[in-house]
Amino acid sequence: MRAVALVDKRKFEVKEIKKPTPKKGEVVIEILKTGICGSDLHYFEMGEPKGLILGHEFCGKVVDPGSRKDLKVGELVTALPISPCGECSACKSGNPQYCRKTWSDAVGLSLTRPGGLGEVVCVRPDMVLKLPKGVTEEEMAMVEPTAVALHAIHLANIKVGQKILVIGGGVIGLLCAMFAKKEGASFVALSETNPKRGKKSLKLKVADKYYDAKNETVMADFMKDTEDGFDIVIDCCGNSNAVTSAICATKPGGMVILVGVAMAPISIPTVVAVMNELKLQGAIGYTKDEFEMCIHLMATKQINVKKFIDDVVSFDQVQEAYERLTSGKDDAVKILVDPKL
Ligand SMILES: NC(=O)c1ccc[n+]([C@@H]2O[C@H](COP(=O)([O-])OP(=O)(O)OC[C@H]3O[C@@H](n4cnc5c(N)ncnc54)[C@H](O)[C@@H]3O)[C@@H](O)[C@H]2O)c1
Ligand SMILES: [Zn+2]
Ligand SMILES: [Zn+2]
Repeated sequence: MRAVALVDKRKFEVKEIKKPTPKKGEVVIEILKTGICGSDLHYFEMGEPKGLILGHEFCGKVVDPGSRKDLKVGELVTALPISPCGECSACKSGNPQYCRKTWSDAVGLSLTRPGGLGEVVCVRPDMVLKLPKGVTEEEMAMVEPTAVALHAIHLANIKVGQKILVIGGGVIGLLCAMFAKKEGASFVALSETNPKRGKKSLKLKVADKYYDAKNETVMADFMKDTEDGFDIVIDCCGNSNAVTSAICATKPGGMVILVGVAMAPISIPTVVAVMNELKLQGAIGYTKDEFEMCIHLMATKQINVKKFIDDVVSFDQVQEAYERLTSGKDDAVKILVDPKL
């Protein structure tokens, strides 16, 4: 089959590779749309592991239903890309994000399981979810990042009237801002180093105010607009500057949610967190309930995630799409890939 493989730092190649063979009971899915995720951009920058076929946010058509007797050939589905063991106490309590095996064999994030940048994927039967009426292929490819944001927002436990800051206006930041408003925040601010993306958060009506993170007065502006800092700050970047500003912009006793991923240790002012008794809360992935909740919210038109999709490109355009998303200058936040283009 055709696939886009990571071959070096910031370099993809379109290749012919062996079709993955399903293990016992697995569902074979022909890919229709795959989203490019901010986490995929880290792999692109690192160029490792070589040969990785990325793509963990996908939607496709069932080719072989495996052990899922309720699925028909041709039916539209998406899936959780994760590989929880199903047997440990975390899995049994409905928290696959705590299972040690969750990411080891994940679709599109491990060498063992080629992702949606290939024409076909094999997925564990218990991870496959059907596409309900009224939800488009494009929306279905957005379920995974939407579930990441919903999980972070559940951990933030926002109270009506609170002031929230989201750092980073990639799709994860925009989705977090959207959900923060839905949870009853009275003021949702977003800071960005890329002015085009910052302004986009206002245009898409997910943030009440955008701050230029490069502006020298940004911290003073945060304090002025909130009196003494934000109740909750959600970092959706992961770099040292971003997490530092998250810690400094949170009011004493407040909470910082860490969603952004850094591939190496970063330097942050823990003394500020100590002096202000901040709570630092990591957020990873989602539960199956949250994944299903996002599909339900889309099906019942309670959220509109289509507005975050900027472009749909072919395998041959994947290289260019990744360059666009890492340029720091483009306003695109979510690009989908369609193998049939
Ligand atoms: N925890 C999880 O489960 C999970 C899941 C998916 C993605 N992520 C991570 O979340 C992060 C966001 O994902 P995304 O898809 O939105 O990525 P993205 O790269 O598209 O967005 C990050 C944004 O942060 C901005 N930025 C960088 N430094 C900044 C700073 N100092 N201040 C303000 N803005 C700054 C960039 O301009 C960019 O727009 C990534 O690190 C990704 O790996 C985590
Ligand atoms: Zn993702
Ligand atoms: Zn487990």
